[in-house]
Amino acid sequence: RNLKWQMECRSDIYRHNAQFHSIYESLIPPEEEKVKQKQLLTLLEKLVCKEWPEARLYLYGSCANSFGVSKSDIDVCLAIGDADINKSEVLLKLADILQSDNLQNVQALTRARVPIVKLMDPVTGISCDICINNLLAVVNTKLLRDYAGIDVRLRQLAFIVKHWAKSRGVNETYQGTLSSYAYVLMCIHFLQQRKPAILPCLQGMRATYSVTVDDKKCAFFDQVENLRDFGSRNRETIAQLVWGFFNYWAYGHDYTSSVISVRTGSVISKLEKDWTRRVGNDRHLICIEDPFETSHDLGRVVDKFSIKVLREEFERAADIMHYAPNPCVKLFEPY
Ligand code: GTP
Ligand code: MG
Repeated sequence: RNLKWQMECRSDIYRHNAQFHSIYESLIPPEEEKVKQKQLLTLLEKLVCKEWPEARLYLYGSCANSFGVSKSDIDVCLAIGDADINKSEVLLKLADILQSDNLQNVQALTRARVPIVKLMDPVTGISCDICINNLLAVVNTKLLRDYAGIDVRLRQLAFIVKHWAKSRGVNETYQGTLSSYAYVLMCIHFLQQRKPAILPCLQGMRATYSVTVDDKKCAFFDQVENLRDFGSRNRETIAQLVWGFFNYWAYGHDYTSSVISVRTGSVISKLEKDWTRRVGNDRHLICIEDPFETSHDLGRVVDKFSIKVLREEFERAADIMHYAPNPCVKLFEPY
């Protein structure tokens, strides 16, 4: 009887794993989307160069960090060497230029936390946000992409987690839940602390890549092709990791005193960061240290209402992974 039960459990695990794999596969953007993104970037480069010949455009965010699912918008950073420029003026000028080239829905949002120009390209159908001189985002995009190159399970886990967060309505920073960037950092942290570890701590290794951005030194090991075997001692499957991830955030994380830190590859204490009380609007109810802007808590958007929502969602997901006969359906049910 016991053996029969064990066999059934095992076949369930295989079945769930296959289902998670196919969800992951279905979220991967097709190659033609990449081609269209390049096409739009080339057009933007041509337009920008006429006005600012020295400027450069970089893709960042999910279109460049390898965590972009199909049909995502693209994030572009316009790097203008001069640090003293007036960003609002540049954005308004840029909006003017783009508007006169038949790009649609062009809007300059000069008062946003990160000021941007938004646009839609009618030829490729892609929407795009352009920000100015946000080079830290370009560097953290590279860090995330490099982590993704070490073990495919990171990309699989992050796709599932992002898909879950969007389905459950907990990927909305303006409503006090977390950004996609925060979720990917949570996945990296989770795989760093897994035993045996599936990911190393790139910022704790000999630096092979180093840049200084806004007076912050950003240095880490980036020869990730040499780390492809790193996680091979850990044989956990994607279904097990999805379960482990939600279990960690539902029942394993110490919300009262811990900060997760991809920079150090471990958890550090709130006390050490002086993140123990509310300062201004930063409540530090879930603490996720930015790998380069270390005074920046990506959980700062979370308030006393949304922390409850988040933790209930983590518990719901963990319980589904534990008990539900069909976790892959139930997990992503719209809220
Ligand atoms: P989706 O658009 O949801 O697929 O994900 P995304 O990876 O584009 O994430 P998001 O829109 O949350 O952020 C875009 C990029 O901006 C991230 O990849 C980061 O590089 C950067 N970013 C977002 N939020 C922050 C933040 O609070 N601090 C810093 N330093 N960078 C951020
Ligand atoms: Mg984005």
